[in-house]
Amino acid sequence: MYIEKNQKIHLTRRPQGLPVSEDFELVSDSIAELKDGEVLVKNLWMSVDPYMRGRMTDRKSYIAPFAIGEVLEGGAVGEVVESRNPSFPEGTKVSSMQGWREFFISNGEGLQSLPETTAPVQSFLGVLGMPGMTAYTGLLKIAELKEGDKVFVSAASGAVGAIVCQIAKLKGCYVAGSVGSDEKESYLKDELGVDAVVNYKKTKNLKADIAKACPNGIDVYFENVGGAHLEAVLDLMNDYGRIAVCGMIDQYNATTPVAGPSNLSQLIIKKLKMQGFIVFDHWDEYPAFVQEMSQWLQGGQIVARETVYDGIAQAPDAFIGLFTGKNTGKMLVKLAL
Ligand SMILES: NC(=O)c1ccc[n+]([C@@H]2O[C@H](COP(=O)([O-])OP(=O)(O)OC[C@H]3O[C@@H](n4cnc5c(N)ncnc54)[C@H](OP(=O)(O)O)[C@@H]3O)[C@@H](O)[C@H]2O)c1
Repeated sequence: MYIEKNQKIHLTRRPQGLPVSEDFELVSDSIAELKDGEVLVKNLWMSVDPYMRGRMTDRKSYIAPFAIGEVLEGGAVGEVVESRNPSFPEGTKVSSMQGWREFFISNGEGLQSLPETTAPVQSFLGVLGMPGMTAYTGLLKIAELKEGDKVFVSAASGAVGAIVCQIAKLKGCYVAGSVGSDEKESYLKDELGVDAVVNYKKTKNLKADIAKACPNGIDVYFENVGGAHLEAVLDLMNDYGRIAVCGMIDQYNATTPVAGPSNLSQLIIKKLKMQGFIVFDHWDEYPAFVQEMSQWLQGGQIVARETVYDGIAQAPDAFIGLFTGKNTGKMLVKLAL
């Protein structure tokens, strides 16, 4: 099938600080006929995620930087619309890392058929995909959550944070979180059953407000933000507490070196464990996660909100919006019906 216009987003230059729309360009090309062994995939949804900001900077990390003048990459779900590969017949729903484009040709490498479930396909970019798996792994495995733990979650209304809050509630924990708006505070309290919420954008004293939200201290901190949040929480941790370091979004757009917390000695005084992790190191446990999370979703014990931008041209705005709190739940771009 010849596709005359395949739109995609290129990175035009490396962002300085908060990314701006001029860092991105909408371009289009055509897609040729398939060869034997290939499939044509039409992307239905693509994901924007905070880690992509790191790949826009030219530095050594756990994953290579994006190239300037090339199409960006990231999670996407799509449908095989033409196939010359028996492993992926026409109509197969697939996930890939070929986001930021409307169509692509694949020889099957890096393409996964989506498991059978009643959940909508875009769930595999959110609650049933990488962010959900991050919440599950970070909380249950890295932070070794136990029933009755007092848990604090930063960026608590986002793709990862909202799932962390709900799993912790399911496991019989006291849960408090921080967010950047009144609407998000209501979402956490009224829809997710979180016990206490701090609006970090409104507070005059972050540590005092987190202390108020966590009157019996913190056993588990699920860290998504870093900076002032980490410093405040370290002082409020209980003895033998655990900190799962998932992300530090407060630092992703920094243009100068970031100061560390002044109170790391709390790790010694309180005998804390603090561990960073990358979800892909735990991917062998993904099938078990999908099974358990699917049951929670079907039983209504976990709900997953999405914030949706429409069309590939909106993808840069959706991405930039992650850093200004435009999303509640998973930020997604809908590419086709
Ligand atoms: N380790 C891993 O394998 C792994 C995997 C996935 C994600 N992560 C990390 O997990 C974190 C959450 O990711 P996500 O996909 O769930 O994103 P997300 O929470 O859905 O979106 C980002 C949210 O962070 C908040 N935020 C943005 N800038 C902030 C700042 N300077 N200070 C405090 N909050 C800020 C915003 O909400 P507010 O309105 O509340 O500010 C925004 O909605 C990120 O740090 C990400 O890098 C790590």
